[in-house]
Amino acid sequence: MIEIIDTGDFAELKQQLSKMHLSAHDNIQVILGYPHYIRLKDSIFSLNYTDNTYQSLLTTQHPILSAIGQQKGTLLDACGGFGKDSFLLSHNHFKVTTCESNPIIALLLSQAVTDYCTKVPLSWEAISQQSQEVMHKRSFDIVYLDPMFQIQRSAKPKLSMQIIQALSSSEPFTDWDLAWQCAKKRLVIKQHQKAIIRPELPKPSLQVKAKKNVRYDIYLK
Ligand SMILES: C[S@@+](CC[C@H](N)C(=O)[O-])C[C@H]1O[C@@H](n2cnc3c(N)ncnc32)[C@H](O)[C@@H]1O
Repeated sequence: MIEIIDTGDFAELKQQLSKMHLSAHDNIQVILGYPHYIRLKDSIFSLNYTDNTYQSLLTTQHPILSAIGQQKGTLLDACGGFGKDSFLLSHNHFKVTTCESNPIIALLLSQAVTDYCTKVPLSWEAISQQSQEVMHKRSFDIVYLDPMFQIQRSAKPKLSMQIIQALSSSEPFTDWDLAWQCAKKRLVIKQHQKAIIRPELPKPSLQVKAKKNVRYDIYLK
């Protein structure tokens, strides 16, 4: 169940969200404010890219940067989540469009991106929409997909991932061909290391293996 709470200025937004009949696998409270935040069980989550969790990512070479390559240009992050990957990519000079289909996740994402880009001049926009709708209208040099997959973990996932799992629908992204058409130069798919290579697509040109059973399949044009 999702409970939406307005702390003052967001009555209209609360009404819009209430009409959407959103559901969650766990009890979630969404508190609308500056910033918006989410309560899951006893934990509170808000999104702020100036936090050390994000800023410390900028000091190391993340495998996604090897997968995306050196070429700069426009990039669609088609399964945006809370924008960690987009954060890294926009800091690496890509013009990033982050799409997120879940309205609650998208709400926190949009607010955090807008807020961060007033402090740090990045080319980064967040869109609250199914990425397929954007793919039908626009094309990008690079399309990046991080659809949800299960990783065998001994520890509990991070709070941000617990929230994504609690809110996510049972319909994973499967429009591989559309994503391929939308990419002018490169399509990158983050996968579980044991996942099959997508039969709908040509053979990947490259693969980058990362930690935690993650693999990036790279399709070049
Ligand atoms: C594994 S998470 C992505 C995490 C993200 N890469 C990050 O760095 O934070 C997958 C996200 O994709 C979103 N999603 C799934 N299908 C989508 C679609 N068709 N369009 C846009 N977002 C989608 C889910 O709601 C979920 O938030």
